[in-house]
Amino acid sequence: MMTANEIRDSYKKFFESKGHVIVPSAPMVIKDDPTLMFTNAGMNQWKDIILGTKQPEPRRRTDSQKCLRVSGKHNDLEEVGHDTYHHTMFEMLGNWSFGDYFKEGAIDYAWEYLVDVLHLNPEDLYVTVFEGSPEENIPRDNEAASYWAKHLPQDHIIDGNKHDNFWEMGDTGPCGPCSEIHVDSRPAEEKAKVPGRELVNKDDPQVIEIWNIVFMQFNRKSDGTLQPLPMHVIDTGMGFERLVRMLQGKHSNYDTDIFQPIIKRIEQLSGKRYGFTTPTGSNGECANGQEKTDVAMRVVADHLRAVAFSIADGQLPSNAKAGYVIRRILRRAVRYAYTFLDQKSAFMFKLMPVLVQEMGQAYPELLAQQELIGRVMKEEEDSFLRTLEKGINLLNGDMDELKAHAQTQLDGASAFRLFDTYGFPLDLTELICRENGYTVDEQGFNKEMAKQKARARNAAVVENGDWQVLREGEQEFVGYDYTEYECHILRYRRVTQKKNTFYEVVLDHTPFYGEMGGQVGDTGVLVSENETVEITDTKRENSQSIHIISRLPQDPSADFMACVDIDKRNASAANHTATHLLDYALKQVLGDHVEQKGSYVDADTLRFDFSHFQKVTDEELRQVERMVNGMIRQDFAMEEHRDTPMEEAREMGAVAVFGEKYGDKVRVVRFGPSCEFCGGIHAKSTGRIGFFKIVSESSVAAGVRRIEALTGKACEEALYRVEDTLNEVRALFNNAKDLQGVIRKYIDDNDEMRREIERFRAQKVEQLKDQLVAAATTVNGVKVVRAVLPIDAASAKDLVFKVRQEITENLLCVVGSVADGKPMLSLMLSEDLVNDHGLNAGKMVREAAKLIQGGGGGQPHYAQAGGKNADGLSAAIDKIVELANL
Ligand code: SER
Repeated sequence: MMTANEIRDSYKKFFESKGHVIVPSAPMVIKDDPTLMFTNAGMNQWKDIILGTKQPEPRRRTDSQKCLRVSGKHNDLEEVGHDTYHHTMFEMLGNWSFGDYFKEGAIDYAWEYLVDVLHLNPEDLYVTVFEGSPEENIPRDNEAASYWAKHLPQDHIIDGNKHDNFWEMGDTGPCGPCSEIHVDSRPAEEKAKVPGRELVNKDDPQVIEIWNIVFMQFNRKSDGTLQPLPMHVIDTGMGFERLVRMLQGKHSNYDTDIFQPIIKRIEQLSGKRYGFTTPTGSNGECANGQEKTDVAMRVVADHLRAVAFSIADGQLPSNAKAGYVIRRILRRAVRYAYTFLDQKSAFMFKLMPVLVQEMGQAYPELLAQQELIGRVMKEEEDSFLRTLEKGINLLNGDMDELKAHAQTQLDGASAFRLFDTYGFPLDLTELICRENGYTVDEQGFNKEMAKQKARARNAAVVENGDWQVLREGEQEFVGYDYTEYECHILRYRRVTQKKNTFYEVVLDHTPFYGEMGGQVGDTGVLVSENETVEITDTKRENSQSIHIISRLPQDPSADFMACVDIDKRNASAANHTATHLLDYALKQVLGDHVEQKGSYVDADTLRFDFSHFQKVTDEELRQVERMVNGMIRQDFAMEEHRDTPMEEAREMGAVAVFGEKYGDKVRVVRFGPSCEFCGGIHAKSTGRIGFFKIVSESSVAAGVRRIEALTGKACEEALYRVEDTLNEVRALFNNAKDLQGVIRKYIDDNDEMRREIERFRAQKVEQLKDQLVAAATTVNGVKVVRAVLPIDAASAKDLVFKVRQEITENLLCVVGSVADGKPMLSLMLSEDLVNDHGLNAGKMVREAAKLIQGGGGGQPHYAQAGGKNADGLSAAIDKIVELANL
């Protein structure tokens, strides 16, 4: 039997033997693309080539791509765990032809690989072809059907509809008809009863699609129409986990050697067993709850991979966008482990060693960042478990209320609050309620959910118009060499976002850098003979700079000059270069484990996130600053190597960032000893940075620190501010020369005065106590001490305690105090009044506080209450004496 690793290799080798170049997987987390957060198909990384904005060589490629389908058009999250063949993260084996072979070649290769190399039985194979779509004016794919007919009898070739046989990456973008290959892996007797063709695309767990061959022919535009692509493209995707399961003769992906080691470890850690009871119930559940345990183990095993690979790609869990998706996946796993595997403390992170052992070789980024991933996971688990506990307490409170009002149903709004604030999905709330004999108003919950979705939709609407093409052609970026350049508008479109309307413009030549790799986009102007239009930002999409302008030029087809705002550009370039020097210095000072985890640079500031497991000390920070400033003074000139083959760049010792997408050719930027893969805009030499100063060091997540720093003019200004502040302080101390000495003396004097005041206060309280004790009256054997005094709350407290030291039995001492116009009641009862007479100071004070328009409470023998109405103090004291009922 082939192992998973052998199967992956055999696929790539087969296509290599057919002239394909083996390429690495692109990162699973996509950066710098507003239309997609995660790689959801193998073809994502080739989008630019397919759309014709990037050259297609080499035209034949093959790889195994890490994919994540948890958001957008392709979202399988809720399925995962409940069946045995959906995953959040999965690997997709693919072969590509960019304008080389098309339908016939793709079909013949697929057949040869499955039948001749993997020895699948042709009788078990079924294929689907697109039935056509009259409304889109696309005929049935007779061509693909005729090529399949070379290999398969007609009853193994099935027509499929648009849903299954027309593949689209998203609402817009490359698409085309496709042929899916399905495998029937049922036992012979079942095959005899029902022919496989009847089960294709019918959710039968044993008759499943393993390979999708897409014939990319169109680009779907935002108005829904289809535009032919510049060249025909073959995009195939084979679900690796499903293929392995079939070849290993298993019924479930989780029984293959991809998942078994992880499941075994979950069994060991949880003390529960996987898959030992056959389901008996109609929904596949087992009387003893085993099905739930199995689902939970599958969820944990699946989500572990998704979360670990995302963190390895540089995406930490967070509250926004991709980070939030990752956080939700992790929380889903924690919930299942908490509820069905009894894991009440962090658990998933303990599975990291086995994951790394199984997949670290094929994906070295996992191995290299094992410690960081484990720490981040554990911290996230811990914090979500605390939230879960809080939510459970809240739910217990809600159930107490229900009980008190003899009700049996939790309302939808409460269930939704638990979902929204504490991440409790409805099923968890229902489960806990059911265990306690309550139901949940599901309809009410759904209503609240719909309301929230509507709110989110309204907030996020972006309307993109279609591109208006003025000239054909591709954009050339000239920004590494120029800040001004002659240009024309190739195309533009109107965009409306939150009621704001602006235009996005693509120029034929542009010196404008589009926001990427943490560096902000350039701003500037577009100038023609007759007018000037401001460019307020530049974004990057499909490897192009997209210029944002608030109004269209009157003549968009005029000749323009694109001019970058040079001051801003120079400042952000200097900040970018400083991050390289900072990265280098951190590795020198802290060690080689330092990995860049994110950065942001604009004209004003720079931010650099990196892996490091404790706070960076002040001395270390100072060492880093000295090193960076040293490199600035050495004025290293920028050495730039464009279009360097990847291997050569690595040999030069260039530092790459995990999770960044690099092409076959990369740009390497060197400043003295610092050498990095980088596409950004830099200072011409380090001297131009001027000066570098760290302003803060903090934690972003477990194992990730953040440094914020200033350079150049911003440093100069900061220095002036420090000096001005210091001068102002000095002026406050009569321009003292020895400022530190003067301030120290001031603090000492202050401390001395504080002690003095404290002594006076204590003396005063002592005197007051003597007076009060002397003035005490006796009512039915109880000493009543009462007074209204102009003292603060702390003194009043001291006073009543002192009185009780003096009069230890049968004492009711109530003091009304006023400080800064605020009234306060302090009540002290001796123990015997509490124990034998059932008095309670807390309750009495609460009642009496109404007369001073306030509230408070405390213990049975001592309580305080503040209020607003000082005039009510006397009446409040009367009330207390009355309540004591002496
Ligand atoms: N793009 C197709 C898919 O994702 C084939 O790779 O299924």
